[in-house]
Amino acid sequence: MKTVKVGLVGVGTVGRGVVEVLQRNCEEISRRTGSQIVVVAACARDVEKATEFLGPEVKVFNDPLDVVRDDNVDIVIELIGGTTTARTLLLEAISLSKPVVTANKALIAECGNELFAQAAANGSIVAYEAAVAGGIPIIKALREGLAGNRIDSVAGIVNGTTNFILSEMREKGMSFEEALGDAQRLGYAEADPTFDIEGIDAGQKLAIIAAVSFGISIQPEKVYCEGITKLTEADILAAEEFGYRVKLLAITKRRTDGFEMRVHPTLVPDKCVIASVDGPMNAVLVHGDAVGPTLYYGAGAGAEPTASAVISDLIDVIRLQRANAAAYVPHLAFQREHLSDVPILDMGEVESSFYLRIRVRDEPGVLSDIAGILAEYAVSIEAMRQRESNSNDEGVDIVIFTHKTKESSINDASKKISALEAIYNAPARLRIEMF
Ligand code: NDP
Ligand code: HSE
Repeated sequence: MKTVKVGLVGVGTVGRGVVEVLQRNCEEISRRTGSQIVVVAACARDVEKATEFLGPEVKVFNDPLDVVRDDNVDIVIELIGGTTTARTLLLEAISLSKPVVTANKALIAECGNELFAQAAANGSIVAYEAAVAGGIPIIKALREGLAGNRIDSVAGIVNGTTNFILSEMREKGMSFEEALGDAQRLGYAEADPTFDIEGIDAGQKLAIIAAVSFGISIQPEKVYCEGITKLTEADILAAEEFGYRVKLLAITKRRTDGFEMRVHPTLVPDKCVIASVDGPMNAVLVHGDAVGPTLYYGAGAGAEPTASAVISDLIDVIRLQRANAAAYVPHLAFQREHLSDVPILDMGEVESSFYLRIRVRDEPGVLSDIAGILAEYAVSIEAMRQRESNSNDEGVDIVIFTHKTKESSINDASKKISALEAIYNAPARLRIEMF
């Protein structure tokens, strides 16, 4: 049996998961590839610790480029994260015609267009299934399984850390900080968790999803990103009261005038499937014109779920080594020369229904002032309710559900409502998706 020699750059949460799953499932994997996979080299900052884990037969370097340049290494797996060293080492691997497997969404989102162009020019492969939605094979589904469709929309939970935090806060009454600490301990969070909690990680994944769904370049800078740090317990509780759950959703939609790309906390009806996706699990709902709605569910973060995706890419790459480069699935699903430049829509153009919570002085006329302003900006009210505050704060909450309205109209109306004398705070607002 042929031996395929792998260089592992990064022996952290995912790197260790990959080694463990490769060892445990070596027989199954060999039967699938017809090859024996051996990790021959690795790179870690702490060489001693990595050697202790990998065993003395694996050569452990301190410099990632040493792994890439090692003549013994056929395929490189990049699991260090970040966009500087990782970019350099991927470019080096591509120039040496060594296929690379990566789980690095920040790198693919920021540098994917460049890396894929280089790889295509060199007839090389950069495989990145693990970069999006952890263990769910969503890239394969979008690039291959749904290739006969015109994809209309993709929406879902693509960040395990924030979904875990929201679930822990709701189910166990944990504080945000406690839940984030647990997510870090469990290996779900990014090295810098700001990427998770501010929606950046989900935004990077969404930019990749939109690219492979619609055949556009990867444009992370065009994703509207709102994380979960400004969410209040009051809104999570109010959502429950009205039959909703709050989820951090990543949404991209095809419209006649462009594509929407947005990440934000969203109210979803508690009876819909997405609402019951809890903990570090992810779920992605894809709508194709031929297939209709399809749903993909699984662990979005963690050592072994991510290893599952990394190893699936590794197996693909090994199989493709016997193929001509022309037979490779294009990195972004569509032929490079047919990528489109349809614009990404400004967030102001996006239409949603909204939940608004406005803390007001309990006195006559306030409600009609608020309703008047909403009418002025053509925001139609679907339901309105006064809600007694659970805290000892002054005032009462007015909760309003609107019909679909433009984001720019809600922004303008909120600004004017905030200026009313009887208002304590700017309206808290959340978009609603019904699926
Ligand atoms: P970790 O921080 O656990 O592991 C990264 C490892 O790389 C650490 O051991 C780190 O060493 C090492 N490292 C970083 N820079 C260098 C360098 N220049 N030279 C040598 N070693 C280096 O991260 P994860 O394993 O969680 O994540 C790895 C990648 O996988 C990231 O891109 C992440 O976004 C992605 N990913 C992670 C998932 C998860 O659930 N954790 C899921 C999907 C993707 P040190 O600790 O000393 O800094
Ligand atoms: N930090 C990421 C998450 C890891 O929580 O989803 C998986 O990409």
